[in-house]
Amino acid sequence: MRSKLDVRRFLPALLLALLAVGCQRESGEQTAVTPATGPAPAAVDRDEHSYAEPDKVVTEDLALDIALDFDAKTIAGTATYTLQWKDQSATQLVLDTRDLTIEKVEGEAAGGQWQPLQYALADADATLGSRLTIETPERNARVRVTYVTSPDASGLQWLTPEMTEGKQLPFMFSQSQQIHARSWVPLQDTPAIRYTYTAHVTARPDVMVLMSADNDPAAQRDGDYSFKMPQKIPSYLMAIAAGDLVFKDISDRSGVWAEPAMIDRAVAEFADTEKMIATTEQLYGPYRWERYDLLILPPSFPYGGMENPRLSFITPTVIVGDKSLVSLIAHELAHSWSGNLVTFSSAKHGWLNEGFTSYVENRIVESLYGKEVSDMEYVIARNALRENIAAMPEATQALAVRPDVALDADDALSAVSYDKGAWFLQFLEQRFGREHFDAFLRGYFDHFAFQSITTEQFLAYAKEHLFEKFPDTVTDAEIQEWVYAPGIPGHAPQVMSRNFGIVDSARLAWLGSAQLPPRQITDAWSTQEWLHFLESLPPTLSVEQSAQLDEAYTFTGTENGEIAMRWYPLAVRSGYTQANEALAEFTARVGRRKLIMPIYTALVQTEAGLALAKQIFATARPGYHPITTGSVEKLISEAKPAPAPAPDEASAADTAEPGDATTPAPAN
Ligand code: BES
Ligand code: ZN
Repeated sequence: MRSKLDVRRFLPALLLALLAVGCQRESGEQTAVTPATGPAPAAVDRDEHSYAEPDKVVTEDLALDIALDFDAKTIAGTATYTLQWKDQSATQLVLDTRDLTIEKVEGEAAGGQWQPLQYALADADATLGSRLTIETPERNARVRVTYVTSPDASGLQWLTPEMTEGKQLPFMFSQSQQIHARSWVPLQDTPAIRYTYTAHVTARPDVMVLMSADNDPAAQRDGDYSFKMPQKIPSYLMAIAAGDLVFKDISDRSGVWAEPAMIDRAVAEFADTEKMIATTEQLYGPYRWERYDLLILPPSFPYGGMENPRLSFITPTVIVGDKSLVSLIAHELAHSWSGNLVTFSSAKHGWLNEGFTSYVENRIVESLYGKEVSDMEYVIARNALRENIAAMPEATQALAVRPDVALDADDALSAVSYDKGAWFLQFLEQRFGREHFDAFLRGYFDHFAFQSITTEQFLAYAKEHLFEKFPDTVTDAEIQEWVYAPGIPGHAPQVMSRNFGIVDSARLAWLGSAQLPPRQITDAWSTQEWLHFLESLPPTLSVEQSAQLDEAYTFTGTENGEIAMRWYPLAVRSGYTQANEALAEFTARVGRRKLIMPIYTALVQTEAGLALAKQIFATARPGYHPITTGSVEKLISEAKPAPAPAPDEASAADTAEPGDATTPAPAN
């Protein structure tokens, strides 16, 4: 076994050597952050996921007056835009829409009266939806659109009472990122444009309505709600939710909204939220959004979390009773700086949101729970990143994706944006030192506060305030490699986890001898150690090995979704069918894509598995979010299952010697 200690012993020397090489190179050339082959010129760098024309006109304020109809599963009402005309010869306002029925478009004339405007709704593009072109020869200061959403709006999910925890009241919520806001509000759906908003929302009087705005913890349910978001936000942060929601405090500026049956468990799990806010403020400056609340969604929420301003939307699958998955809260909170305050101008600069946020998340985790925990999280993320990168086309392995590379908006943010992005920032932190790098980031958030920027704007700022301020610390070539080259630079800092060293030894011992590690050791393992144990096992086990682990650690039926998403695929690949029933229950109940797609992916590899996947999907479909339905549907329709193995092949897999497949996974 390759000892991690050895690597650690050589690491400082290695880093010094790299640093020295870097210094030599730097002294020989001028720092020029823009390579000939790298970024696109700003003019071409338009958001290809929106029809909006920000050079001509931008929305300054959006006023919604809408009604939620749970029976029809629609939102109907008006959206009024206060416009700033940039181009005094422009004659059209172009909005993004998807599956909306447009009933009327009016413009406010100079005298204040509203007059009908001509408009055309184009045929739908599968990705972008329908361009709504409004004729505005007078360049009206305000335009109003009257519209109704489709019951199948891609950015909304409507749940019947049976699909909720309490089973009494219906529930609905939005998920606007990346380009789904346009399915519930006609708007300029690009993060390059920021605006303030107000909303007047009516609904049946027994549901509470919340938005990504100034929710009142003491609001009474009466079916009539008003909201104001006085800070300028991009459209993907528009959010709404309604249901049997109650509130409990965590601190005087933070708390949890959840269904009554969930609220106490959620408040206990997320009790450290105020500490997280205070820690991030100390590092990167004041929290600028007044309140920070969490909304716990039903398990069908397609993501882990969504950083809707003032009200992060959170999956219930991280409420596991021991706070071991609260880095999700650190992540969504961190977006209040990286993402919501300083925003990417298009999804192609996704790492400016997700990479910075993953880095800040790790700093929060380190500060609250210690370096060993944050190191374990980096190691887990980077192992997954390596695996992901190996399967990705080179062009999409760069942090900043070039404009000529097509990307699905929902997939634009890959592990590269998150984990390579965070890795790059950790590299900068180590080179410049925490004190300087923290001060730099704080200045960056302040400088670009409430703006939407490109990678090149970040690099220009970093050049002035970091690279040139502390010359000979990084080379231009290193920066270029991180930002525009595929793969992970050889000089990337390595993280070692002591705890994972113990896990690795335990795994190897078990694979070699079938002897499980002593209870005193595994009893002390947290979720992270179990994740590493499961991830570093060989791709398949024998049925006997699977059963031995399952009997000892009861993985099957686990309440912990992070464990489930690693155990069930392993069980499927290993032919351990005893897990099937619990696997089917989990996969049908949970709609969080990250947790269930690996299970579906493992299933569709064989005929029998594909049949089970189809069966689960048929049961689950009515309760899945449209985003999850889309992903599962695509996977199943493109499945190419291997023919059933010949009997002797199947038995060979079953009787593999415990020591056969022991390629040790590296600990980082
Ligand atoms: N903003 C993302 C969610 C997102 C990304 C939605 C891209 C749509 C398109 C959110 O902040 C996020 O990253 N969520 C992660 C959790 C995080 C801890 C990595 C998730 O949902 O898994
Ligand atoms: Zn994020």
